[in-house]
Amino acid sequence: MLVEMKDIVKRYGNLLALDYFDLEAEKGEIYGLLGPNGSGKTTAINCMLSLIKFDNGTVNLFGEKMSPKRDDLKERIGLVMQDIGVYDELTVEENITYFCGLYISDRKKRKAYVEEAIDFVGMDSHRKFKPPRLSGGLKRRLNLACGIAHKPDLIILDEPTVAVDPQSRNHILENVRALAQEGKTIIYTTHYMEEVEAICDRLSIIDRGKVLVRGTTEEIKAMSSSGEIIHVKAFHLEDDLLDRIRDMKEVDAVNYEPAAGQLVVYFSKGESGLMSLLRLFEEKNTDFFDLHVKTPSLNDVFLEITGKELRDND
Ligand SMILES: Nc1ncnc2c1ncn2[C@@H]1O[C@H](COP(=O)(O)OP(=O)(O)OP(=O)(O)O)[C@@H](O)[C@H]1O
Ligand SMILES: [Mg+2]
Repeated sequence: MLVEMKDIVKRYGNLLALDYFDLEAEKGEIYGLLGPNGSGKTTAINCMLSLIKFDNGTVNLFGEKMSPKRDDLKERIGLVMQDIGVYDELTVEENITYFCGLYISDRKKRKAYVEEAIDFVGMDSHRKFKPPRLSGGLKRRLNLACGIAHKPDLIILDEPTVAVDPQSRNHILENVRALAQEGKTIIYTTHYMEEVEAICDRLSIIDRGKVLVRGTTEEIKAMSSSGEIIHVKAFHLEDDLLDRIRDMKEVDAVNYEPAAGQLVVYFSKGESGLMSLLRLFEEKNTDFFDLHVKTPSLNDVFLEITGKELRDND
């Protein structure tokens, strides 16, 4: 196991920020930490890297015990912090050179690494810009370049896409995938379930400092007790058709709002009733449009366990 955190407890006064938190990530995997604001993601990272003291538990990185003195382990780690930490008075190129220089003292090697990092985040045309002139998305990309220029084996990204435009967001996600393909191990925190679904091999969903569930996206979605939900627009549905839909063996519930022409059919877990539903519509010669099938999401699982939504409104 490349990252192994066991039974981590972290208290801030009376607040239990981490409550016997565990994490295991293997080499080359993108491991997601998904949780709402204040759930303990950043605290978990700070404990992982010995940046703060904790009250209980152990952390092993690269198979060795992590502690504040382990500079040899720290050299192999790249941290991209949630709050952008670049110098406003240095250019893009100078910033990356500075952060890379904390680890790489050989000038020639450093220059080559910096060029690779600039290329990697696609900022060649911005290399002489200072951060105040960069958009939020470009600043995040610079922050990423500064964290990974020294070619660390373990990369920790703490909410790297908050408040970035879709183009930079895609750019960042593609970069993260590329790093994993090179064999780097990535810990990726976010409160966006779409990102976790797009890039993470496995994830933990956390809330109030506790790991609620862990596994692949598919495994976690399969924990949901609900099945598919089909939404379809159809006006003037006959009572007989509605009764027959209700009588379908796969159907749990049916809701029809005639004025809006909105039919919603809830299916039992693991059942797909789309074909049978379409056959009934055809048999009754009934028109419909705007059909879509919704399967349970990570948010639905979170909602079932905690009774609240995963995401806030940003
Ligand atoms: N230095 C601190 N002193 C006191 N409480 C803290 C401190 N740092 C974090 N906390 C609290 O610990 C809890 C976990 O915070 P943390 O920053 O780890 O959450 P997070 O999941 O990273 O949230 P976000 O999505 O907002 O980044 C929160 O309730 C937070 O208020
Ligand atoms: Mg945080």
